[in-house]
Amino acid sequence: MLRVGVLVSGGGTNLQAIIDALNSGKITNTSIEVVISNNKNAYALERAKNNNIEAVCISPKDFDDRSLFNKALIKKLDEYNLDLIVLAGCMVVLPAELIQKYRNKIINIHPALIPSFCGKGYYGLHVHEKVLERGVKLTGATVHFVDEGTDTGPIIIQKAVEVLYDDTPEVLQKRVMEQAEWIIMPEAINLIANGKVKVEDGKVRIAG
Ligand code: GAR
Repeated sequence: MLRVGVLVSGGGTNLQAIIDALNSGKITNTSIEVVISNNKNAYALERAKNNNIEAVCISPKDFDDRSLFNKALIKKLDEYNLDLIVLAGCMVVLPAELIQKYRNKIINIHPALIPSFCGKGYYGLHVHEKVLERGVKLTGATVHFVDEGTDTGPIIIQKAVEVLYDDTPEVLQKRVMEQAEWIIMPEAINLIANGKVKVEDGKVRIAG
């Protein structure tokens, strides 16, 4: 059984997609042990509670400095003996110590086709604003392992989504979520849970 911890910051629709996929059997061999938010008002925490999943808030605001927050986050994650940490709309920059400790055991969903529209400052709605400004015709989402860079780790799954001329950032964000994010995040977890994902020379090989 793959023991998963999910880090969130906001609405938690990706968390919900994971929960739904667990309930419908699209993800097997997996349990969500804890959901941790840096934001106490995140609706994602309610979604966890509604599904009898432990919901914890660890906010940088409650610590005198960043290193104390980082220590508390790592300590909390370590308590659950996790095999995988899933960043599902997590807006916290993770400490290097955590990334080293959980090498190739942390995955993130990014709302664009990496290496386009990613890196520092590219998150949430802002990504879709940039996509529309540039006028590209295809965007999408990417699930990747997390390394020390921003959106630079090995790519696990990507899915393309059409951009329409009259899209607003909000409309495009919704389409990218519905047609890509909520599909590929559960898929990636299921592949990992069933031993299908290997990282070789910084690239992901998917078995079968
Ligand atoms: C999602 O669109 C996710 O791809 C994005 O934040 C949103 C969270 O929504 N993440 C990033 O931009 C990370 N760089 P959710 O809380 O409803 O899952």
